[in-house]
Amino acid sequence: MSLADGTTVLVGARSETLGERVTTALADGGIDARFVRLDVTDPATIDAAAARIEEEHGRLDILVNNAAVAATGASDPADAAPPSRTTVAFVRAAFETNVLGVVAVTNAMLPLLRRSPAARIVNVSSELGSLGRQSDPSSPGHGVNLLPYNTSKSALNAVTLAYAKELADGPIKVNAATPGHCATDLNGHTGSRTAAEGAAVIAEAATLGADGPTGVFITDAGPEPW
Ligand SMILES: NC(=O)c1ccc[n+]([C@@H]2O[C@H](COP(=O)([O-])OP(=O)(O)OC[C@H]3O[C@@H](n4cnc5c(N)ncnc54)[C@H](OP(=O)(O)O)[C@@H]3O)[C@@H](O)[C@H]2O)c1
Repeated sequence: MSLADGTTVLVGARSETLGERVTTALADGGIDARFVRLDVTDPATIDAAAARIEEEHGRLDILVNNAAVAATGASDPADAAPPSRTTVAFVRAAFETNVLGVVAVTNAMLPLLRRSPAARIVNVSSELGSLGRQSDPSSPGHGVNLLPYNTSKSALNAVTLAYAKELADGPIKVNAATPGHCATDLNGHTGSRTAAEGAAVIAEAATLGADGPTGVFITDAGPEPW
């Protein structure tokens, strides 16, 4: 699927300036893009976004739950406090956005997604949320022990499975996907991949065909254990 094929992209962002900047860049690339104000921790903006989508589009085909915070208190993850010195406030902040925000937005958008013939939900997760990888000393992310972020992404993986199970009898597919280690604000631009490279697997998960999986954790290499 190409976004220039008539797909309308709704850019949900809490900052109007940043959201409009992305929307303009997409529009310059020939994509029908609109900014929708959305703070995933603010129920009023979630309800307003759902109401606007219903009024202007009548349905939603794809929901990408991408918003997240690292909540480490450090711009470089290498400088983050170990679990024993992590404050509950950081853990709460990570869960507010990375887990509860996803639940709130998903529940608000589900009535619109149910109106689509083949809706897809992609929860943008992380290798760092994989319990399999975190318990494997040979895994590249094993030494990255960020309690707020890692545990919030593990919870997000469980949330993904919960929705996938509830929706298994219908056309909606719900998966978690990870972009890999990308250079972005989240990690002080320490990642080795570009955001565009990371986005490819998210786009793939968002456009799965009818024979695609649901309730799986998708990486570049395909679905892998949680
Ligand atoms: N970068 C990596 O290596 C990596 C690896 C694995 C997974 N991921 C995942 O990829 C996704 C994108 O992260 P990224 O690397 O692109 O990091 P990023 O540059 O920090 O982007 C995160 C985005 O989430 C937005 N956000 C945070 N809180 C929000 C809220 N309450 N409401 C609405 N938007 C909110 C931020 O908005 P503002 O601009 O307003 O702050 C920002 O645009 C995240 O789910 C992340 O966990 C990233």
